[in-house]
Amino acid sequence: MPPSSSGGVTLAMIAGILEGYDLGRLQWHSPRHLHLLTEAFRRAYADRNALLGDPDFVAMPLARLLSPEYAAERRATISLDRATPSREVGPGVNAPTEHPHTTHFSVVDSAGNAVAVTTTINSFYGIRAVVEGAGFLLNNEMDDFSAKPGSANQFGLVQGEANAVAPGKRPLSAMSPTIVVGRDGRLSLVLGTPGGSTIITNVFQNLSNVLDFGMGVARAVSAPRIHHQHLPDEIGYEPGSLTAETIAALQAMGHAVKVRGSPDAAYPYIGDLQAILVRPDGVREGASDPRRHGAAVGY
Ligand code: DON
Repeated sequence: MPPSSSGGVTLAMIAGILEGYDLGRLQWHSPRHLHLLTEAFRRAYADRNALLGDPDFVAMPLARLLSPEYAAERRATISLDRATPSREVGPGVNAPTEHPHTTHFSVVDSAGNAVAVTTTINSFYGIRAVVEGAGFLLNNEMDDFSAKPGSANQFGLVQGEANAVAPGKRPLSAMSPTIVVGRDGRLSLVLGTPGGSTIITNVFQNLSNVLDFGMGVARAVSAPRIHHQHLPDEIGYEPGSLTAETIAALQAMGHAVKVRGSPDAAYPYIGDLQAILVRPDGVREGASDPRRHGAAVGY
């Protein structure tokens, strides 16, 4: 999804950085795998949080951010065995000096047309007020802006002036409804998720689970996930999903590792992914995330 969602741009930046590693040959969820994901996420979010905003208001260096040369420069700053503290990772392109409820549907029809739709009113029940007589909830999307640049929003995102509030401006979303088409034009994957700031890293991990690690879509969707968004400078993981050895190895590399689900966390899990994989033999595999209450249906 293009700006005013950061989803498509950030996914592409993550993929560009990780293009330099043969992810599918790594042991899935090994410390090396999780480290490389984290370092790519950290850098892409540093750019996202500082540079992206509503294109009607902000000039964004998208050609540069999305170029293979820039991905290679960002990749070159990654150590294979040490975490880079987020305080040492700024946006890689100079920022201008002036400086939860969401739902996703993935659909493929009988003719092979695909739709990926994410809708949001932000927090659960938005502002928790219904328009009298109209029957719909009002959103609290203002929190997707950097209401106070430099301060964290409800998802812990620390964002800058590019996403500051202005009349008529759209807040920077993380929604990432995604359709993957092969070089031959063949539809391969349709996916997306709610989850606030974790949407982008969740979609990326599911793409990579299928495309790099050859997982079936049900396994890919139910597999544990991690998250990193530049600040706070920590790897979030789902309860029980990383071994003590893996956590210790990541900590030894300098990563802060924190389980999601502490009393102050909104959810003890990451996301609610809905995906359809169209296999080369034409069979469609649908998978709904077991973390929430969706369902895969076929007609
Ligand atoms: O557009 C966004 O990035 C947010 N409004 C999404 C919020 C969200 O996913 C909350 N749901 N779990």
